[in-house]
Amino acid sequence: MRKINKIACIGAGYVGGPTMAVIAQRNPNIDVTVVDLNAIRIAAWNDADLTKLPIYEPGLDQIVAEARGRNLFFSTDVESAIDQADMIFISVNTPTKTYGKGKGQAADLKFIELCARQIARVATTDKIVVEKSTLPVRTAEALKSILHNTGNNVKFDILSNPEFLAEGTAVSDLQNPDRVLIGGESQEAIQALVNIYATWVPSERIITTNLWSSELSKLVANAFLAQRVSSINAISELCEVTGADVNEVAHAIGMDSRIGSKFLKASVGFGGSCFQKDILNLVYIAKSYGLQEVADYWEQVIIMNDHQKIRFADNIIKTLYNTVNGKNIAFLGWSFKKDTNDTRESAAIYVADHLLDEQATITVYDPKVTAEQIYADLDYLGTRTSEENRKLVKVVNDPYIACQDAHAIAVLTEWDAFKTYNWKLIYENMYKPAFVFDGRNLLDKKQLNEIGFQFYSIGQ
Ligand code: NAD
Ligand code: UDX
Repeated sequence: MRKINKIACIGAGYVGGPTMAVIAQRNPNIDVTVVDLNAIRIAAWNDADLTKLPIYEPGLDQIVAEARGRNLFFSTDVESAIDQADMIFISVNTPTKTYGKGKGQAADLKFIELCARQIARVATTDKIVVEKSTLPVRTAEALKSILHNTGNNVKFDILSNPEFLAEGTAVSDLQNPDRVLIGGESQEAIQALVNIYATWVPSERIITTNLWSSELSKLVANAFLAQRVSSINAISELCEVTGADVNEVAHAIGMDSRIGSKFLKASVGFGGSCFQKDILNLVYIAKSYGLQEVADYWEQVIIMNDHQKIRFADNIIKTLYNTVNGKNIAFLGWSFKKDTNDTRESAAIYVADHLLDEQATITVYDPKVTAEQIYADLDYLGTRTSEENRKLVKVVNDPYIACQDAHAIAVLTEWDAFKTYNWKLIYENMYKPAFVFDGRNLLDKKQLNEIGFQFYSIGQ
């Protein structure tokens, strides 16, 4: 049996950090070193003040406190971590390509390839290399080709072990996963990784497949999840014109055990770093095999999601008498979902951009997202100069100040705290008529109507 004493993980991001923290917590006899090129990120992981960890995830601070310095280490020394490890997880980012062939759809694998080349160059002992990043099906073939041609007699086994955690619930998802998926060719390597998870995951929930099924299953899981959100969002628009209520429809269909009740929450549109990127990647892969109908089918999930974001912004403009020029819109929430500070592909960014095009001014409050991040998100779009973004968008750290003198409030993230605000006080300090556009169906419609708000939600 192959015994793993040291693990290295390349990439200390939203996946690498929490995943390795839990592996280290559950396997105190294995040394786990998480490495990253980003020295600021590594310094934050090593910060004695646990509120400064680079990623906000409920419960993560306690796990880091327990394992860090014992058998969990964060470092910028990528080479020595590679050299010493028996098993290396690659958990680097795989964003959508922004250039060249496949621009806007294909996954950019340059970071993955750099890791493989670095492992090939540095390794002096046999390694199990684990794909933790989400990758196009058959990426392991390229990794094999790079790793097996080093000429230094080191034996590499490649496994695919995609991660299914969702942000905001990463710790509980890792502690109690629906399943762990391991794809590979060498039974010995597969078993070595099974043993690591088996310290806390019941064996019937650890499934093993061939490499390609494992790689593809990750893209397909995200595509199916995103498809549910786009499906219910499509129905939300139909509800709005027919008098049906999307919450009631979701409840009614979700009670059918074949459909299931989860992931049927209508919203301003899904965000996050994964859904859009992974579906675009799936579309690109299908096209590259000449499967145009398959590609078109999945692309529709993205088209629907883009429509939902713009529809939400357009409804604000239309309701505010067809102009938001010079009007103050308060944004409650900027992250792509509650309980995370991650803003990647957040619907808030695109709704803001659309309203700014119409010359609105926006004041944002989010409990976990910094002003720098919000401006960086808007600047990245390149729609207007960063001076203009700073002139039109204010970021405040008090929700009551955000809503003061607003013509309308838009709820973009479903943070629980928003439900507990003194809505009467907020109402008193706004321009009248005071509008609320609830992009998360979070607030109590009856209560807000009674206070005097003109209240709009999704699909009702
Ligand atoms: P991230 O951007 O938060 O982290 C990736 C890290 O890798 C960055 O800190 C970057 O500096 C580092 N990195 C890149 N190249 C490197 C190199 N050559 N050497 C050392 N460090 C390097 O990304 P993430 O959200 O953690 O996602 C990582 C992968 O996991 C992606 O493929 C993603 O699709 C997948 N995934 C993400 C989630 C999620 O919820 N975020 C869930 C499941 C799977
Ligand atoms: C997703 C997958 O759930 C996870 O398994 C994978 O590993 C990474 O991608 P994540 O993006 O972190 O996780 O969050 P998720 O809970 O899936 O939400 C994604 C987006 O969909 C969010 O913007 C969320 O608000 C939205 N959503 C989700 C809805 O609008 N309605 C729903 O019913 C569920």
